[in-house]
Amino acid sequence: VAVLLAAIGGGFAWLWTGADISTVGKSSFANELAIPPLAEHTRVKADGTKVFDLEMRAGETEFRPGRRTTTWGFNGDHLGPTLRAERGDKVEVRVRNSLDESSTVHWHGMHLPARMDGGPHQMVRPGATWSPHWKIDQPAATLWYHPHPHGRTAQHVQRGLAGMFLLDDERSSALPLPKKYGVDDLPVIVQDVKFDGDRFDDRRGTMQDVGFLGDRTMVNGTLDPYREVRDELVRLRLLNASTARTYSFGFDDSRRYAHIATDGGLLERPVETDRLQLSPGERAEIVVRVRPGERTTLRSFPQDNYGDAWNTRFGGGDDSFDILQLRAAATLRPSPALPERLGEPEIPDGSDAVRARHFDLKRSGINGHKMAMDRVDDTVTRGTTETWTVRNTNGMPHNFHVHDVQFRVLEVNGKTPPPHLLGAAKDTVFVPSGTTMKLALRFEGPADPDTPYMYHCHLLYHEDKGMMGQFVVVEKGRRAGQPDSRGHEA
Ligand code: C2O
Ligand code: CU
Repeated sequence: VAVLLAAIGGGFAWLWTGADISTVGKSSFANELAIPPLAEHTRVKADGTKVFDLEMRAGETEFRPGRRTTTWGFNGDHLGPTLRAERGDKVEVRVRNSLDESSTVHWHGMHLPARMDGGPHQMVRPGATWSPHWKIDQPAATLWYHPHPHGRTAQHVQRGLAGMFLLDDERSSALPLPKKYGVDDLPVIVQDVKFDGDRFDDRRGTMQDVGFLGDRTMVNGTLDPYREVRDELVRLRLLNASTARTYSFGFDDSRRYAHIATDGGLLERPVETDRLQLSPGERAEIVVRVRPGERTTLRSFPQDNYGDAWNTRFGGGDDSFDILQLRAAATLRPSPALPERLGEPEIPDGSDAVRARHFDLKRSGINGHKMAMDRVDDTVTRGTTETWTVRNTNGMPHNFHVHDVQFRVLEVNGKTPPPHLLGAAKDTVFVPSGTTMKLALRFEGPADPDTPYMYHCHLLYHEDKGMMGQFVVVEKGRRAGQPDSRGHEA
């Protein structure tokens, strides 16, 4: 193994402590991609509320033939069903915790009251059920859900607690986009993993200051995945649900594809590209054209802004590695052409900003503080727009996620953002070392001075170590309350 490591890894071979390094970025595509079941609501209450049921539980999953791994999942052994709702729906999710430790479920990207957010203040004890409810009031988007217990988020997500939450609206339903779930509209939950006997190895390697980095990837919990497709156009809903790894998605022949949606929903128009970088927590929807009978592979390509020391393992020198193979049928159903106009991102342009804040990202904390459950870091006024300038001079990659809102990136290092961020609704943005980003955010509330929302680095090890802060939304002229240091438990 040592010789192989040296051969493929050059100077970074010493970073890897484990065995099982054999594929050098190439996959065998031996397994058919699993598609998380679409969970319809289980019942409708008298007031029209759609009720969904989620149970967090422990289980076992056979990722490799004949070898079972201890995992956690929602309503199953690993990952969770895809929840789906429409703008205007009233929803309630009954979250039952059948684990033997407390956790939470956070609706990443969702605009909703702070008490329903599922952050570290809404802990669910073992055996308890927590039933947040809210009205969906935002454009169609690919959102996701995952635990958020302070200090243990990385572990809970890595064990398998993650799922997608898709939102539709009238506009998105009317557009001629690929939308047959699991057929020409595929959820693609990308995670890197490492196995240690019958469990996931979640230890960070030497020097892995960014957090855990696995030695192979899986999609929707499938290692070496392929998927047969029967339509000319295929929509992939990419979610980087890894704890620390950043991917630059493209195809093996570098074909161009259409980027159609960001974290918060459809772009105004498709953006043609051949590479798209997603850091942990970010989503993108892309539409790719396949030719009859061909095989094409979604891969991750080298990234010059992630840092060599953290970019290693898969490809050694060039660090490209396979993610998912698409196998096109010999005859394909024709797909309608992509529309020229897609969505209308509902994001502020910053012109009415009433306040500017600055956030300095360091692994030791944000603005010099580590997260404290009983300290509110920022108080914003309901119904106002602010600009937040986020700066990373820390020498390592970070990203920045804000709960409750979809923001606009106004500037990157003082300049107009690149095409994939321009006019895009984002809730999480990659902030490479040496980058300053100016964001515009609008806080619609409702006001709740006692219950904070979070902002944090979504490299989960950093978040767990305290790269997180809290803000409350209050009515004009009001002050923040005093949040409970332990959170409330359901
Ligand atoms: Cu996806 Cu605060 O998290
Ligand atoms: Cu970070």
